Amino acid sequence: MKVGLVGLGMIGSRVGARLDNAGSLDEVYNRTKSKADSFAARRRVVISQDIKSLVSDCDVIVSVLTDDQAVRDFIGKTSDVSLEDKTFIDMSTISPSTSVSISAELGRRGAEMLDVPVVGSANAVERGEAVLLVGGEKGLFESNTHLLHAIANEVVYVGPSGSGLRLKLIHNLVLASYVAALGEAIHFGLGGGLDPALIHRLLTALSSIRSPNSAIKVPKILNSDYSTQFSLKNMIKDLGIIEGEARLQGSAIPMGALAAQLYTLAHERGFSGEDFSVVAEMFKNSFGQKLPK
Ligand SMILES: NC(=O)c1ccc[n+]([C@@H]2O[C@H](COP(=O)([O-])OP(=O)(O)OC[C@H]3O[C@@H](n4cnc5c(N)ncnc54)[C@H](OP(=O)(O)O)[C@@H]3O)[C@@H](O)[C@H]2O)c1
Repeated sequence: MKVGLVGLGMIGSRVGARLDNAGSLDEVYNRTKSKADSFAARRRVVISQDIKSLVSDCDVIVSVLTDDQAVRDFIGKTSDVSLEDKTFIDMSTISPSTSVSISAELGRRGAEMLDVPVVGSANAVERGEAVLLVGGEKGLFESNTHLLHAIANEVVYVGPSGSGLRLKLIHNLVLASYVAALGEAIHFGLGGGLDPALIHRLLTALSSIRSPNSAIKVPKILNSDYSTQFSLKNMIKDLGIIEGEARLQGSAIPMGALAAQLYTLAHERGFSGEDFSVVAEMFKNSFGQKLPK
């Protein structure tokens, strides 16, 4: 069985490294070839020149791409390849509706697909500590568990096509509001003249609202270190997906809508390439300034 990987970005390169370390990776493709070159330089994997040849060569194709459009583009490039009996494992965070429709299209062409979004940072993926949420046919999931466990220790079967993504969106809905609230609270505290070290201690150690995320993001916010772990652009993309799905299913998401506005504002202020915790910058000075009497 040959395994190919499309997309060697922050997450894809770590997924690729884990598959390769387990002896389960044969070919890779990345749109920007330099990333494929540097990934393959240290490994015995073939670099495919295009998506078509990777998909023709491989039985299982793992994809880790940015958004709905990227996954549609990728599948569109396989239009004249026979997909009979091939398995697609899409780990991109995309809209569940798009994923279900791509899965149905692949089904009509004789292939099967699992949606397997990732919960966890690039570092967590590197250590095998991310969580994979799986949507799709249970039998297909069972026949691919060995591959999924090569990527992550924790693999959860959720239900039919699209349901892995639906569970993943819950995570990002909370994460977006939580990190924006951390930014707001930190600048509220700083504006009140508190010692940054005490704010850090409260939010990461003393308080019951501490979390693995506060341990990572609070120091970043206090040090204005917005080096990318998960990009602002991708968080805005995910909030857009959440808003779209909420509209379709008639769910109220006021916290998500507010978070979407805050992250979009940060983007409009020119922070697009940076970590999503840069949303904290929206609160800088705002609470520190005295209101006019
Ligand atoms: N970073 C995280 O912490 C994290 C955590 C969980 C889930 N995710 C999700 O995982 C996915 C990947 O995230 P990432 O952080 O790895 O992003 P990234 O570093 O920006 O990588 C995105 C990948 O998609 C490729 N791509 C984008 N548009 C394409 C197109 N039209 N055709 C072909 N390839 C295309 C990029 O190719 P180029 O190199 O040519 O640009 C790159 O390989 C996203 O859906 C994200 O929401 C990320």
